[in-house]
Amino acid sequence: MNTVNDYLKSGAIDIAPLLSLALNKTTTELYTQVGYQLSTEETNQLEKLIKQREQGVPFSYLSGTKGFYHLDFKVTSDTLIPRPETELIIDIALDLLDKQKSYDIVDLGTGSGIIAVTLADKCPKWNLTATDYSYAALGVAKTNATTNINFQQGRWFDATPNQTFDLVISNPPYIEENDPYLDDLSYEPQTALVSGKDGLDDIRIIVNNAPKHLNQDGYLLLEHGYNQQDKIEELLSYRFHNIQRFKDFNGQDRAILAQIK
Ligand SMILES: C[S@@+](CC[C@H](N)C(=O)[O-])C[C@H]1O[C@@H](n2cnc3c(N)ncnc32)[C@H](O)[C@@H]1O
Repeated sequence: MNTVNDYLKSGAIDIAPLLSLALNKTTTELYTQVGYQLSTEETNQLEKLIKQREQGVPFSYLSGTKGFYHLDFKVTSDTLIPRPETELIIDIALDLLDKQKSYDIVDLGTGSGIIAVTLADKCPKWNLTATDYSYAALGVAKTNATTNINFQQGRWFDATPNQTFDLVISNPPYIEENDPYLDDLSYEPQTALVSGKDGLDDIRIIVNNAPKHLNQDGYLLLEHGYNQQDKIEELLSYRFHNIQRFKDFNGQDRAILAQIK
């Protein structure tokens, strides 16, 4: 029979969180109960998780959750795992608009729902719409909603025909199709990650179509790849002004905000 301590010393990847998951114990409980002996059932469950993790399955897909901003989100293999970098988009939106006023806002490509759900939870007066072309992702996003959000299925603005917004937000796919980094992301939906040769196919569609869906003085806020800001600024410059560029907490160019002319 193995104890918690035997496993903690095993060096297996993510062993402490995997133990927490298999034994349904907090990290504090694990470290104060290092002599706890695992039952056969618990051992089998843990060994299965260790194997999956060693094969590269991200921990969030094993636990089924990922924390983002102030909430925990359900995630499945149909949704991208929320990235901490995306919290930048939330901070920009919260700084931009007045919490006490009402705005129409859309989160295009909502995935697990993190952007729309977080903003709606923080700002109950804001009217959030969340779209995705993946029915499966929308199903997950709906379970993550803490308030009333309008969920609509469709490709980019096809999901919101005839609707206009004060703020359009998107963290679209933006990785180049031959980027070797994709090898590390093989468990996540490739349709949530890859966007043509230069990674900008989806951003071009969103930038070109956003003007029809923005109210007067409305804003477009995009997350993007670390090397895409100059190209996106150029795309925006025809129809937008007051362009602001943002870096993430690693100092990488990560988001761009622009106001319709
Ligand atoms: C990078 S993920 C972002 C997910 C989520 N917003 C987040 O920040 O974690 C991109 C999302 O866009 C969706 N998507 C990809 N192509 C799309 C399209 N043509 N129309 C609408 N949604 C699309 C994917 O299904 C995925 O959920």
